[in-house]
Amino acid sequence: MILQQVAAVLGLLVVYRLYSNWKQLSNGIPGPLIARYSDLYRAYQQYNGKLRDELVRLHSVHGPVVRYGVRSVSISDPSVVDVVYGSRAGFTTADSYNVLVGIANGKEVASLVSTRDETRHGALRRSVASAFTPTGVLDYEPWIDESIVELLDVLSERPLIDLSTTMLYYSMDAAGRFSFSESLGCLRADADEGGVASMIRNRFNHWGWWSSLPGLERLIYRNPIALRMKRAPSSMAASAVAKMKARAGKPSNSSRAPDLLSRFMESSQTNPEVLDTAGIVGMLMSTISGAGDTTATSTTAILYYLLQHRDKLAKLRAELVAADINKSLPSNREVSKLPYLHATIREGMRLFPTITWPIERCVPKGGAIIAGMHFHEGTSVGCMPAALHLNPAVFGEDAREYRPERWLVADPEVLRKMESSHMGLSRGRRVCLGQHIAMMQMKKVVAAMVLNFDMSLSDPTSVLDADFSPAVACLKPLMIKVVPKHEHGELPFASDGRI
Ligand code: HEM
Repeated sequence: MILQQVAAVLGLLVVYRLYSNWKQLSNGIPGPLIARYSDLYRAYQQYNGKLRDELVRLHSVHGPVVRYGVRSVSISDPSVVDVVYGSRAGFTTADSYNVLVGIANGKEVASLVSTRDETRHGALRRSVASAFTPTGVLDYEPWIDESIVELLDVLSERPLIDLSTTMLYYSMDAAGRFSFSESLGCLRADADEGGVASMIRNRFNHWGWWSSLPGLERLIYRNPIALRMKRAPSSMAASAVAKMKARAGKPSNSSRAPDLLSRFMESSQTNPEVLDTAGIVGMLMSTISGAGDTTATSTTAILYYLLQHRDKLAKLRAELVAADINKSLPSNREVSKLPYLHATIREGMRLFPTITWPIERCVPKGGAIIAGMHFHEGTSVGCMPAALHLNPAVFGEDAREYRPERWLVADPEVLRKMESSHMGLSRGRRVCLGQHIAMMQMKKVVAAMVLNFDMSLSDPTSVLDADFSPAVACLKPLMIKVVPKHEHGELPFASDGRI
């Protein structure tokens, strides 16, 4: 009898929960029925790396607004970008960012990305802004040069490489250099030296896998007992603290180029109340983890599409040769304004954005009208780059095709629309802080590789594939053949004496 009563009460609770879930967002937004009642649907899709493709499919069936969770809506309409990500809109990052907060000494330590308080986030960003301006980032060019010289050298010795892994190791080493003046040594060793890359992937995995169920994640990983047991800082935080301690009190080595850590420590002296020790650790965590897989995946994708489309590759090479740039080591000044190079980068990142799910924002107090619909306060809305980038109203009926020329249109209005719908580096208040470093780096490294090597896909039918379950796509191996151009009778890349 008692058992029956308990079962009946539990049954009522479940029905009530399903009803209240349904009530959360009942304004007729299309999407899978189960997503109305439970976030287990999106959790299942994300955990299995299927959410990205599933959302692209749902948008092609249902249009620009689809539901994928009890209170989660994906929008592929470019008109919402300014509303949701704009600086005055009042939208904050969604609950899914809670699972990204690190743990150190039993306490939660937010990085820049996982700082949800907008006032704190804005103050933090402003305190380091000068280190990331288009001219500020030129200070780090010597660190990128050092990494590119090493990459060219390594490539000249390896006729067959896995491009995905090589670019990951190159990007990690470059990030180490411009963050704290030290290569991680991955590229030379052809291994994840020190385990930093897998440390970052664990972080992206955790974010992707638990983003749908932040409440459950908190219960499991952040209850008082779990926090007390995790006295040691997370490995990412520990490594950031170690770099900072090693630098503290030492005179800066003026013979070397400035790095991000030196910039952060300078900012901390002028702005100690905003950028304290924890703030510097959070910034370093954000930049090291923000710079590796993202740059590697984007650069690999840009090169992959060029190798697949030999005519476009030839066009790019012709532009680089005509510009008469330093073949050994193209400078940022030489490559930053080349239109076709820029177009191949925008197009590669459009077709293969690194973020695997919508960049989620929370509807502010009082609700909001988005894409002509009213959304209640607290609803998570976001644009997923992979869906928005295929919108034919912005990119044309051939949106699924690789065509860098689309970025060379003469009509400024068409270009403006495409640029403002490109979410590869996000947009608005939380746009990628390292965007100018990323663009400088990608332009230089793509130009250097194209000028110095004949590259081809080892298997011309290979596709660019990734594990899409982490928050940032982790590429699967992509084998390519690499032949130094001097083996075809052209000059070796270091022989013109201009390095
Ligand atoms: C092609 C390479 C890159 C891509 C595709 C990329 C993409 C992104 C995206 C989409 C975001 C927004 C994430 C969100 O709101 O959930 C972001 C934020 C961020 N990125 Fe990048 N990123 C790249 C390179 C870099 C580099 C090189 C650095 C550092 C030097 C960096 C540092 C950051 C930081 C610190 C944030 C957080 C900004 C904030 O919350 O205010 N990124 N990035």
